[in-house]
Amino acid sequence: MKVLGISGSMRRKGNTAILVQKVLEEVVKKNDAIDTEYISLADYEIGPCIACMKCKEEKKCLLTNDEWEAAASKMLDCDVLLIGTPVYYYDVCGQMKNFIDRTYSMYHDRKLTGKYVVTIAIQAEKGADRALETLEGFANTHEFSFIGEIEGHATDEGDILRDEKALKTVGKIAAKIADLG
Ligand SMILES: Cc1cc2nc3c(=O)[nH]c(=O)nc-3n(C[C@H](O)[C@H](O)[C@H](O)COP(=O)(O)O)c2cc1C
Repeated sequence: MKVLGISGSMRRKGNTAILVQKVLEEVVKKNDAIDTEYISLADYEIGPCIACMKCKEEKKCLLTNDEWEAAASKMLDCDVLLIGTPVYYYDVCGQMKNFIDRTYSMYHDRKLTGKYVVTIAIQAEKGADRALETLEGFANTHEFSFIGEIEGHATDEGDILRDEKALKTVGKIAAKIADLG
């Protein structure tokens, strides 16, 4: 079984990155037979969906002038996806939204259906509920099976390590994933 963790934050060592990697670490601690991979969308240039609708016919995204495909293709060989975002203006950040919107090209032949998902959003003060709803919209559209969600509270890089509640949820979610393997 393979678990892929994605952080949508442009902060490579930020709170989302830390929390997503923490789930992966805990999963391996509980079941070392499980493979894990982590990617940060900060390492990929990802433009917006241009609504050309060509993917409906071609069953793939025809935009090849960026690196969305390289990031998105990693989802194809995972069984469990951890998808994490910082909260920007009460919603997912722009890089994450671009990433999600382009997966419309994977929807027509249900490329992601049947995989498991964990949604993660980190806020300073407000908006994680709406960001989690956006991630849930992505997950439901693609017919993922829902394992759970994590809401974190943090502002500066590393603050998330003081969020006891979120860290407790990490343990519970990791145990659920470890049991799947
Ligand atoms: C452009 C921008 C918009 C933000 N909007 C919100 C917001 O609406 N609500 C909130 O609670 N925090 C907001 N924040 C704070 C971040 O969500 C918070 O610092 C988070 O920990 C960042 O996660 P990261 O380190 O993974 O990037 C915003 C930060 C930025 C840079």
